[in-house]
Amino acid sequence: MIRTICVCGARPNFIKIAPIMRAFETNGNFQTLLVHTGQHYDENMSRLFFDDLGIPRPDINLEVGSGSHAVQTAEIMKRFEPVVSDFEPDYVLVVGDVNSTIACGLVAVKLGVKLVHVEAGLRSFDRTMPEEINRVLTDAISDLLFVTEQSGVDNLRKEGVDSEKVRFVGNVMIDTLLANREKARKSKVLQKLGLSPKEYGVVTLHRPSNVDDIDKFSRIIAAFEEIEKEMKLVFPVHPRTRDNIKGGKLERKVEAMENLLLLEPAGYLDFLCLMSNAALVITDSGGIQEETTILGVPCMTLRKNTERPVTITQGTNRLVQITTDDILKSYREIRARGKDHTYSVPKLWDGKAAERIARIIAADG
Ligand code: UD1
Ligand code: UDP
Repeated sequence: MIRTICVCGARPNFIKIAPIMRAFETNGNFQTLLVHTGQHYDENMSRLFFDDLGIPRPDINLEVGSGSHAVQTAEIMKRFEPVVSDFEPDYVLVVGDVNSTIACGLVAVKLGVKLVHVEAGLRSFDRTMPEEINRVLTDAISDLLFVTEQSGVDNLRKEGVDSEKVRFVGNVMIDTLLANREKARKSKVLQKLGLSPKEYGVVTLHRPSNVDDIDKFSRIIAAFEEIEKEMKLVFPVHPRTRDNIKGGKLERKVEAMENLLLLEPAGYLDFLCLMSNAALVITDSGGIQEETTILGVPCMTLRKNTERPVTITQGTNRLVQITTDDILKSYREIRARGKDHTYSVPKLWDGKAAERIARIIAADG
């Protein structure tokens, strides 16, 4: 049996780890320990996803909670090290680009355990993003690098990573989407919120560069003040964003907007149902750029760059600068186009990425 520790910690990790846990079980060659670092801990940022996606309960929760980057990363490392020493795995598998990813990756390689990185090679080339640092460093120490799109293969080649270690397998986040699309259709969230298909927009925001900077956040909110005159906006609010809205002048502004529906962070199935039926999505999320590509829903990404360029070249995604005018211009272009937009499914985004990952590790081990 191949002894593997699978790591998850933050919301997007749960969505990526779900199909991997299932594929390891089906493959039959794996003995797996699931470790939750506790980076995200609210019910609706964590447990809800285990319920919605049928992920087994974590064997161990390190319960690190929130903190500065240094404190959080160090605390995860301190608590993860004895787990690795006790379990003596052949592999530690990490996903994505959050602090839990790099923290557990570092612990693994320093204990001489092979490191597997799922979603390797993505680059925004913007080192002011904490995620970019986490990506570059995790890739530099990984033994097997599973890539979602061709740009990732190209980036790793340019960085001199041995091509033997790099495998283009597709996208586990899309495995989860395709496996849950039917279930999400049964969600009653539209009725509950009084929404009609294709007549509303979905908003998510949580990048520090957008929501910790009150000036930028105000420009975004000013655009919403115009958009909500024409279209309802559904906004499940990330805890970081909630903390930034609370108590300030932005709180009064958002509360005054009748057609801006502020919600708690949504569960996966409700959120997938909301996205699938939306006229457009406005976001700064990484994963949502990919999901809207598969759903064919126009996506405005409020960022200067993206580490996921295939969502623009093949998908429905576009980058929008953070000014009120740019946001409104982009919104109007999408509205004017109506249903007339073309897109295609990126290579290997076929629901089988996790199966490929399990097969490759089984053959390697
Ligand atoms: C983290 C990831 C980011 C990812 C995002 C997904 C890093 C550096 N950032 O950002 O890449 O896109 O998760 O959602 O790893 N909080 C709660 N409850 C929770 C979790 C967080 O209240 O369950 C609050 C705390 O005040 C915390 C803040 O949100 O300080 C930020 O949480 P943190 O995990 O540090 O970063 P995110 O912004 O969530
Ligand atoms: N998501 C969700 N509920 C929400 C917002 C997002 O289920 O209220 C899902 C979304 O569909 C995607 C993932 O969370 O699968 C993306 O996570 P997030 O945007 O927090 O992180 P990022 O992808 O930016 O790292």
